[in-house]
Amino acid sequence: MRADFQSWVAAHQARFEEVLRGLLPRAEIAPQRLHEAMRYAVLDGGKRVRPLLAFAAGELAGADTARVDIAAAAVELIHAYSLVHDDMPCMDDDVLRRGKPTCHVQYDEATALLVGDSLQTLAFQLLAEHRLNDEAARQLEMVKLLALASGSRGMAGGQAIDLASVGKSLTLPELEFMHIHKTGALIRAAVLLGAQCGSVSAEQLDRLDHFGKLIGLAFQVVDDVLDCEADTATLGKTAGKDADNDKPTYVSLLGIQGARDMAQRLHREALETLAGFGDEAQRLRELADFIVLRKF
Ligand code: IPE
Ligand code: IPE
Ligand code: MG
Ligand code: MG
Ligand code: MG
Repeated sequence: MRADFQSWVAAHQARFEEVLRGLLPRAEIAPQRLHEAMRYAVLDGGKRVRPLLAFAAGELAGADTARVDIAAAAVELIHAYSLVHDDMPCMDDDVLRRGKPTCHVQYDEATALLVGDSLQTLAFQLLAEHRLNDEAARQLEMVKLLALASGSRGMAGGQAIDLASVGKSLTLPELEFMHIHKTGALIRAAVLLGAQCGSVSAEQLDRLDHFGKLIGLAFQVVDDVLDCEADTATLGKTAGKDADNDKPTYVSLLGIQGARDMAQRLHREALETLAGFGDEAQRLRELADFIVLRKF
């Protein structure tokens, strides 16, 4: 990571942590245990890749940072909820997340279920409560975008396919469809929501959409590779779970080298979609590099 990019990331991560702290219900407010568990699931952990993508797209579009903070928080809350549910015994049955016991282990399953429910509704509450774009119609489009990216035609749908695919070998197009939904949809939404807090032309938005789709898929391909290659301490989650759970992944289908090549190809294509932009897209390019080169 270049020093300048590293300090951009660190500054946004630190500021955004405080934003999240302020937006989540305080642990002293009833029901205390649920609020404490929501804060546990969201705060002090995670790379914040989706918010960073929103900030980078927001900067490209000349957006007000305070507006992008809200859009980024909405996406990160949905992401955190998806992780809480993903780790539950009825899904991937994981005990470690972001270097800590998973939510249902630290609390209990019913609480983890309700944490997910509550984070999801809080995300939409934020989008309804705060002004994100001067045009109300555009803001309504943004709410719809996040709803589609989160639901049965987005993340939740991808998770359903993931669970239905245990023990099966999917074809490459089937695997791509699953990954684009379970992970790609929210990453794509992060880019688009960040941009839509500012002003972009329909044509620019289209290019950013394409970028988000490619880098979102690359993100999950790399996640599959890291699950096989990295260790638990580095990942902050149990390594080797995909093979243990008999999940079809890019690694099970193409092998490690094949999956790495795929990530490189998607990375190249993602950068090509930004070719029409100048320096204003530099942070997005750097984030694309980070997503593919990361070690955790
Ligand atoms: C993990 O996402 C789950 C996937 C969608 C692959 P991240 O790797 O972004 O997890 P955190 O937020 O950094 O913990
Ligand atoms: C999760 O994919 C995608 C989500 C929507 C949470 P994984 O099941 O591979 O994520 P990790 O590896 O547990 O973080
Ligand atoms: Mg999973
Ligand atoms: Mg999982
Ligand atoms: Mg994984």
